[in-house]
This record gives sequence, structure tokens and C-alpha cells, in this order.
Amino acid sequence: MRVGLSLLLLICSVFCSEITDKTKLKWWQTSIIYQIYPRSFKDSDGDGVGDLKGIISKIDHFVYIGVKAIWLSPFYPSPMKDFGYDISNHTDVDPIFGTLDDFRTLLTECHKRDIKVIIDFVPNHTSDLHPWFLASVRGEEPYKDFYVWTDGIEGPDGTRIKPNNWLSVFGGEVWKWNEQRQQFYYHAFLEEQPDLNYRNPKVIEEMNNVIRFWSEMGVDGIRVDAITNLYEVEDVSLNEPLSEKPGVPEFQYEYLNHIYTSNLPEIEGAIRGWRNAMNEFKTEDGVPRFMVVEFYETPEKRNAYLGYGCDLPFNFDLVDPGITADCGGRCIRDMVDIEYSALPKHSWPNFVLGNHDRKRITKKRGAGAANAMNMLLLTLRGTPTTYYGEEIGMEEVYVPFEDTKDPWGLNYGKERYTEFSRDPCRTPLQWNGDSQSGFTTAEKPWLPVHDNYRTVNVETQKTSKELSPLQLYKQLAELRENTAFQKDGRFLGRIIAHTGNMKNEPFYKEDMEVPLNGILLQPDQGLVIELLNKRQEL
Ligand code: NOJ
Repeated sequence: MRVGLSLLLLICSVFCSEITDKTKLKWWQTSIIYQIYPRSFKDSDGDGVGDLKGIISKIDHFVYIGVKAIWLSPFYPSPMKDFGYDISNHTDVDPIFGTLDDFRTLLTECHKRDIKVIIDFVPNHTSDLHPWFLASVRGEEPYKDFYVWTDGIEGPDGTRIKPNNWLSVFGGEVWKWNEQRQQFYYHAFLEEQPDLNYRNPKVIEEMNNVIRFWSEMGVDGIRVDAITNLYEVEDVSLNEPLSEKPGVPEFQYEYLNHIYTSNLPEIEGAIRGWRNAMNEFKTEDGVPRFMVVEFYETPEKRNAYLGYGCDLPFNFDLVDPGITADCGGRCIRDMVDIEYSALPKHSWPNFVLGNHDRKRITKKRGAGAANAMNMLLLTLRGTPTTYYGEEIGMEEVYVPFEDTKDPWGLNYGKERYTEFSRDPCRTPLQWNGDSQSGFTTAEKPWLPVHDNYRTVNVETQKTSKELSPLQLYKQLAELRENTAFQKDGRFLGRIIAHTGNMKNEPFYKEDMEVPLNGILLQPDQGLVIELLNKRQEL
């Protein structure tokens, strides 16, 4: 595969350099999406936590590596129990990240450089300190039924007990007793993240207003968080069946089959509603606001969402469990093939290598795999999403239990926290060889910087005489500008020579015509190919 890809690159750099017609595709089909975890990108004020001004100061990094869209994980006011995914005000900026004006500046500066900005939309839950929840606890209208409240059932001694066996995604209880309201509320994640009640039209309207607020300001799209958990069945007396997965303890989410709390059909209506709210806003380029949803599911289930009005359901096949250490070329090819073959006609593929919730690709495949993985991601047809740091092959940092911040990890205790903690993949971006890798002037950033920062950093890789991961990434991004990567990939070549060690690959023969995006080679095998398409066809 390695050889196949480099040949393809060579062919394209020779034949495709003048081809730039991208008029028929939308920006989110031709852009790389780059995910920023704001706490860890760049700190401008020395408090050890990244912020918006930090991002603004590094916009040229996006230009350099050739990404045309950034997605920001939450920067809204939050008690930070789940580091921003517990929102206490959907239409402002947390002081730790800056101000609304900083966000406006970021938007303007990105747009000046033709970079789109996608924000995180977290519809499933709020913080327990959100004014809506505080009013709901007090039973005040119109917020009384903004969350999922229940009396529970009467226990043997007359006390109230939880109504069912449902489990939190982070492990353990989903029902929390509230003394003041004398009821339980439901939380699919932390108890500090009560679930909104989507059976209440007022909730739907308020969340549509959130979309309107940011769309009006000019954001180009939203990434929808935790879409799977949006609805639960109304009858909370229903217990979920056991999954019977071997070795999974009762506390763990995977212990149950989530037939009453996950991926309910009502989600369709919610997505359609958000799409309508977004479509109220005109865009300069005539492309409607973009919507990508977070959804860890089979290709069939995620693709069903395309019909509801989202543009892409994230394809996490390469992420979860993804390209694990034992996944060879054929295994990777199969994962890629599934995306192409399961897509409905006229739909657009997408691939993701990593995110703030899963192990970094270098953790799974080793540091040396960074280049090959970026070559894979950036030469596949479809929208690629890069998680910050992947462009320099950043590695995970070991964080001892005592220093762990992530509630998901902490929930599993010292014995198992490393399986779940997301701290190791969220460490500061390594900018240069200065103290704390130039991420912050603070003595101690919120998460530790990797020890390898003196060699693995943006500045060193930019100036390196040898082709560094960063330089390779930049070249690949440039290559993607060619329509050869953006049309339907029907590019034919004729084999004019091969390495001769093709015994196990009887498929490839001299004079044979092959589609360029379908070539699969073993290590040390090579083909020389003459491009058959005419320049105008490309
Ligand atoms: C999914 C987000 O990606 C994750 O980081 C967060 O903890 C949960 N949703 C809860 O909001």
C-alpha cells in the first residue's frame, strides 16, 4: 500500500498540477477539517489553558498546513466538569477562553483567509448550573419540564428508588435524586450534565435559537455532540436487556443493550429541525450551513442520518476501535471499502483518524506510523478530519491516576482509568522547543507536555531539512487541491512495469488497466503506471 500511494502521488504531481476546477463541490467536500481542542491548542495569557486569542495567534498554522476548515470543541461558559461539554450558557464564551469579541475576531480572521469555522453544538444536556436547570429544580415555568424528571418507584421502606437499570456512558448511575424537587433527573453522562427533555417543544425551540445565534454571527457549520443519546423512551419503567458481553462489569455502559436510550427514531425530527433553523440563514457562497454529527455506529445506521438533513455523519471506522496494532493492509482496505460501498448514491464519504475522546493513532500504531496514516487519510476520496497534533505525529502522554483530570477515567478508579481517561490524547500542542513547548508561559499547563517536545514540534518540523511529518502533511494537503482527489475517482492507468515479486498478487499484470484509487500493493511491491485519462478529464 505504501508503494501504491507514493506512485499515485508521483503521478498526480506530474500530471495534475494545472488542474484547479473545484466549482461543483461544496467547501466541506474539498476542505480538510481540523479539530481544535481549545484548552490544549495555544495559551495566550499564561494561565496554562489554551484560549481563543491563542488560536487567533496561530491562524497562519492552518494556512501553512493547508486546512480550510477548523472545528472548535466547546468554548462556552462551563463549570468544566466535562471540560466544556457541560455548558451553562450556550451563547457566550467562558472567561478562561476569552470573550465573545475574541470569537468574532477569530471568525473574521479565519474568513479573511478563506477558512471556515465549525463550532460544537451540544444539544443532549446542559450543565447542572445552567439557569434552565436551576429554574427547573425550582419547578419554575417554562423550565419545569426542560429536563427528564421522574418520581422513581417506591422502595420497600417507603423511600423513592430509581425507576430502571439504565447506565451512564461514563459508567454507573443515570438517575440522580434532587432533594429540592423531590424527584430524580436523568443524565446520560455525568450527574453534572442533566439531559434536556426533547419531548418538550420549548426545549427544541430554545436549542434552535442557539443555532440561530451562531449562524447569524456567521459560523459556517456545527458538529453535533452525542446525537445518539438525544431521546429516551417515555416509559422509564422499562429495563434495558443485558448485552451478555463477556467480562464487562455491571457498572460499565457496555453491560447493557441500549434499546431504550440510544439512537431512537425521534432523532430524525430533531436533525430536520436544526437543518431548518440553519437554512434560515443565507450564505455568501450559496452553500447552506454545514452539519456533521457525532455518531459511533455501523455504516448503515450512520448513513441513514444523511437523509435527515445532516451533511456528514462522522465515519469513525478508522478510530473506534479503528486501525489497531494488529490491523494490516487488508484490514484497513476493508474499513475504507465499507465507507465507499455502504454510502447511498450521491453521498459524500468522510474519514477520521482521531479525536478528543479516543486514543491517538500513534498510540495504536506507534510514532513511526504517523506519516503513513496521514498519507492514508489525505489521499482517500472524501472529507478528512485531522485531530490537532496529528500533523506532527504527536504522541500520547502517560498521566498518573493522581494527576488525572478526565471524569471518565476517574470514574473507573486506579485499576482501570487508563482504559478510559482521555487526558493522554488531550495534551498541549507542541509548538517549539521552548519551555512547555511554547504552548504556555505558565510553569505548569493544565495537562503535561510530552517529553519529546524538543524534537517533535511545529517549528522544528517546519525548518527540518529532511521531509518531516509536518512538511509531508502540507504537501498532501496541497495535492488534495487537485480535482483528481475530489471527483469520483475514476482515474485509469496502464501498468507498464512491475517489480516482479507479484506472485501473491496475480491480479496485477503488464498492460492491464487499473483504476488508480483501487491499487493495493504489499510492502516492497511496485508498479509503474501510465496515466490514461486526458488532462481535461481530470
Ligand atoms: C461527546 C464528546 O465528544 C465528549 O467529549 C463528551 O464528554 C460527551 N459527548 C458528553 O458531552
